[in-house]
Amino acid sequence: MQKLEIRGGRKISGTITISGSKNATLPILASTILTNKKIVIKNVPVVKDVETMSTLLSELGSTVKFNQKRKKIEIFNKQKLKTFAPYNFLKTMRAGVLVLGALLTKYKVAKVALPGGCAIGSRPIDIHLNALKKMGAKITIKDGYVVASAKKGLKGCKIKFPKISVGATENILIAACFAKGITKMRNCALEPEIDDLISFLKKIGCKINKIGKRSIDVCGVKNLKKAVHKVIFDRIEAGTYIIAAALTKGRLRIKNIDPKIMLTEINLLRKMGVDIVTKKNYLIARRLDKLKSVNIETRPYPGFPTDLQAQIMVLMIIANGVSTIRENIFENRFMHVSELRRMGAQIETKGNRAKIFGKGKLNGAELMATDLRASVCLVLAGLVPSNKTVVNRIYHLDRGYEKIEKKLSKCGAKIKRFR
Ligand code: UD1
Repeated sequence: MQKLEIRGGRKISGTITISGSKNATLPILASTILTNKKIVIKNVPVVKDVETMSTLLSELGSTVKFNQKRKKIEIFNKQKLKTFAPYNFLKTMRAGVLVLGALLTKYKVAKVALPGGCAIGSRPIDIHLNALKKMGAKITIKDGYVVASAKKGLKGCKIKFPKISVGATENILIAACFAKGITKMRNCALEPEIDDLISFLKKIGCKINKIGKRSIDVCGVKNLKKAVHKVIFDRIEAGTYIIAAALTKGRLRIKNIDPKIMLTEINLLRKMGVDIVTKKNYLIARRLDKLKSVNIETRPYPGFPTDLQAQIMVLMIIANGVSTIRENIFENRFMHVSELRRMGAQIETKGNRAKIFGKGKLNGAELMATDLRASVCLVLAGLVPSNKTVVNRIYHLDRGYEKIEKKLSKCGAKIKRFR
């Protein structure tokens, strides 16, 4: 079990280049199943989930070349792909379920492992399945697999999602590209990663129209084109490093980003007292004064992202006053709280609410990471005290953060990986 050892108390200052977004790369990779033309995807983050999705596509029969040095993936589907996505790919990466819409719409059958629950909640896929059924799919669950077929192909129809879901919006968007007629999707998620998927799908020839708030119309097509696409930056990684600078009174230049896409997070951090200067494709973050408490709620985009909730909690611990968090997206996303308490933080939780008592002192401790964002929150917390913090079970971290210890040590952190 790999672990990270951190000795904090040092300013995190310098320049950090933000990687491409994992959450944009995964659906784009899944959607390449649709086409038989050559696809080149650039600015791909070299993280475990992307490797897993690439391996899944190879397993299905795609020719996938992942040039990790150049952060580029080339994909070419020479032959008919297999329509079976085994469990070992979905047990660590729930986004594997995104191949369902693509396989089913292209080959009219698909058997994809049902992703299990995970630490942050039960995370069902009922919204994905009900929408596919409405498009004409026959779906059964057998031995832990989703077995789906649509003999005559999927049919466009009106789909109003009962709840805003990023994954369901993506899966249906992809499926609709080859469905007969028009699919009118309503109450869609609006995450920038979905915009990136739409921009990729349009490049390969899909007909997609965003028509006002949370509405997307997709007109099915038959033939697709080759394309080169550069993935958008990872706004959660960018937010994480802004918090690192603020926590340690450092000064970071965060580049390869578009600050306009993360205004909610930037404004909230400014409200807490973080000085952030934004430019076209970078920002500079530093902490001048004492931090102030805030109250936040996580919401679908453009609201405050649940994926940054654990990280901002660490900032709340050292701010003045009492802050509160209401987690509205996942029912069990406070797994990091017990570990932060072991470092001395005073946090009360009740259901989906957390009360964070500020002016806290964090002490180094041996900790256990439970999920991706919880892991990075523990790394951030470890940057504060000058004594040693050890974060165990960091494979979660490697699923979504590219070279985190390299990026941080380049900016002054004392952080080491033990294998
Ligand atoms: C995606 C992101 C994840 C982020 C989350 C919310 C990727 C690869 N992952 O996950 O990092 O935290 O969005 O921004 O992009 N739900 C159902 N039934 C469904 C689908 C979802 O009840 O069929 C519920 C979920 O349990 C959750 C909520 O809807 O409570 C939102 O989940 P969703 O937006 O689908 O998250 P993911 O796409 O899994």
